[in-house]
Amino acid sequence: MPSGPLTGRIRVPGDKSISHRALMFGALAVGRSRISGLLEGEDVLATAAALRAMGAVIERDGEDWVVDGVGVGTLLQPEQALDMGNSGTSTRLLMGLVASHGVTAAFTGDGSLSKRPMGRVIDPLSLMGASFTPSPGGTLPLMMEGIQPAVPIEYRLPVASAQVKSAVLLAGLNTPGTTTVIEPVPTRDHTERMLRGFGVDVQVEDVDGERRISVTGPVDMTPCDIVVPGDPSSAAFFAVAASIVPGSDLVIENVGLNPTRNGIFRVLEQMGASIDYLDEREVGGEPVADLRVRHARLKGVEVDPAIAPSMIDEFPVLFVAAALAEGTTVTSGLEELRVKESDRLSAMAAALANAGADLEERGDGLLIKGSGGEPLPDGGPVTTHLDHRIAMSMAVAGLFSATGVEIDSTEPIATSFPNFMDLLAESAA
Ligand code: S3P
Repeated sequence: MPSGPLTGRIRVPGDKSISHRALMFGALAVGRSRISGLLEGEDVLATAAALRAMGAVIERDGEDWVVDGVGVGTLLQPEQALDMGNSGTSTRLLMGLVASHGVTAAFTGDGSLSKRPMGRVIDPLSLMGASFTPSPGGTLPLMMEGIQPAVPIEYRLPVASAQVKSAVLLAGLNTPGTTTVIEPVPTRDHTERMLRGFGVDVQVEDVDGERRISVTGPVDMTPCDIVVPGDPSSAAFFAVAASIVPGSDLVIENVGLNPTRNGIFRVLEQMGASIDYLDEREVGGEPVADLRVRHARLKGVEVDPAIAPSMIDEFPVLFVAAALAEGTTVTSGLEELRVKESDRLSAMAAALANAGADLEERGDGLLIKGSGGEPLPDGGPVTTHLDHRIAMSMAVAGLFSATGVEIDSTEPIATSFPNFMDLLAESAA
């Protein structure tokens, strides 16, 4: 709905990527880990349920969560299929864990997840000795059999994917010998950072501009207390909302600013956004700040494709900012967006076009001619395709539109940001 200025101070929920990893690593340590700030979204709860099915004890304790781990090498055989819901991160990282344990597991998911490619993890994990029976096209539902001991590999990532990198490294934790992932383009490094907190010696080298990341298994993991910073991917919706709605002056507290995740804020600043980084500090081994975002006149830019991995989930909301900016924004090199929770290039092109934006969909990006600071003229409707980020991005677009934007379902938002609609209403009150 059209909205007044966004003001005051808000706090977004915990980082999704870090929350998944905190639960998984806690489950692999022997003893009790405590997590504060865990994201209680459906995706993370799917990870928790799967780890419980494999022997970990995971409970809420007041505001925190506690995990009593089973130890590396002693995951139990799950009795039922592991239901991953909408979550690609749960699926791919847990497939890595199962691959080097002697258990058999079935993975299932919703209509969106069942279309997403799993070949990218099946390939390296098969080289390590695991076997797979996927659905046609290498998708869920699938059965897999892990192997103990698995075989260490050296694997060069064919796509820039932190999920694939993490799946191989997690399999490496229970694999005798050294497992190495070579990353031509850096992707989010939460796995590497957090494994060290759990006592794992993760070697990272830069060789000829590529990152070589190695673990030598089998490892013993010691429990760790984790503080999860706020999710920059969730903060991005509010940063764009405050930038586009005239009169806004909003502080978003406790936002994780890991350089492998903060690309959206860098691009918004290039577009002329007003972002101040207040009280820069470290939380749980990650750089964090409070972001003060004020309304600004945004200008179209050409987005360097090299920045894409550090903002891979933020393009839908960037497209909204571009649709309202002055001048043209061009994005390219974004083929990966077609295999996220939806085909985000075509879903956002259709959604913004129905809201009255002027754009062209290309094979690897969008070209968007901004409205020059005028509200979007039309009201949708928007089809979200079970994709939380399409729903949230278009809710943000609706804040600065002539009539509001109609969204078919806000339900997918619960996967990553359950209180999004309340927080939006609160900050725009
Ligand atoms: C994630 C990695 C990214 C991202 C996803 C979370 C992670 O996926 O889109 O939301 O936690 O490792 P890819 O690795 O497939 O790019």
